[in-house]
Amino acid sequence: MNHSFHHLQPDIILKKLERSLFAANLVFRKSLDSTNSLAKDLAEKGAPEGTVVLAEEQRAGKGRMGRRWFSPGYRNLLFSILLRPNLHPEQIFVLTMILALAAIEAVKERTGLSPMIKWPNDLYVARKKLAGILTEFSLKEGAVEYVVLGLGLNVNWNPDEGEKEISRPGTSILAETGIETSRNDLLIELLRLFEDYYLKVLSGRIDDVYKKWNELSLILGREVEIESPKEKIQGKALRIDHHGALIIQDHTGKEKKILSGDVSLRF
Ligand code: BTN
Repeated sequence: MNHSFHHLQPDIILKKLERSLFAANLVFRKSLDSTNSLAKDLAEKGAPEGTVVLAEEQRAGKGRMGRRWFSPGYRNLLFSILLRPNLHPEQIFVLTMILALAAIEAVKERTGLSPMIKWPNDLYVARKKLAGILTEFSLKEGAVEYVVLGLGLNVNWNPDEGEKEISRPGTSILAETGIETSRNDLLIELLRLFEDYYLKVLSGRIDDVYKKWNELSLILGREVEIESPKEKIQGKALRIDHHGALIIQDHTGKEKKILSGDVSLRF
């Protein structure tokens, strides 16, 4: 393991977050199975809203659709946020959206890169994946009990180092800019931006979020193929609706609503 990269410094992160919602309970581990799994365990035991689980290394990082998330230790950002929002279950996706927006803006501010969103949960730079979000939640009596938002963001990793577990081309901030970025500063910025968005969402001001999200979407207006566990659908991506579903137009001109799946762009 290469330790020449700067380590995460939870004490500094906490200090700089000051009175942020996310300074309330920062749980840091050098190594754990998955920050999402620990955040869910803590949630079940009553951990407060705003709990952040942050790790240098995951032994069993989880991706969407049962996949793994691979990241070498000490290079990237791997964390999960626990929220207990008073939102309708149908609005959970908006939380994924604002985490994507906060990550994009933080990356832009710190590095000058302009990532785009690949529906539903990925950030891309130049046709390569920079980050992924895994959202997990629990409902109780039809209401949201808690939501765990996990972000894996490739920062100082050179994906060319030959990671065989990644089937699709991945990238990192270092690979795109040639410059090492402080993960501490990036995380602090990201959590600040996320908190602003979160307060907006809680107060019902989400039009702006949808607008920005649609503007940053890589797939809208393009021909796409969506693979879900059930089927493969082709069509033109039209828009994302207020529940985060993707609306596409198939070759007969009919609109279809897609709730989840894997999108490939037909370049
Ligand atoms: C995906 O692209 O499929 C989503 C990847 C999400 C990875 C992050 S890393 C931190 C958090 N903990 C996990 O186990 N997964 C998420």
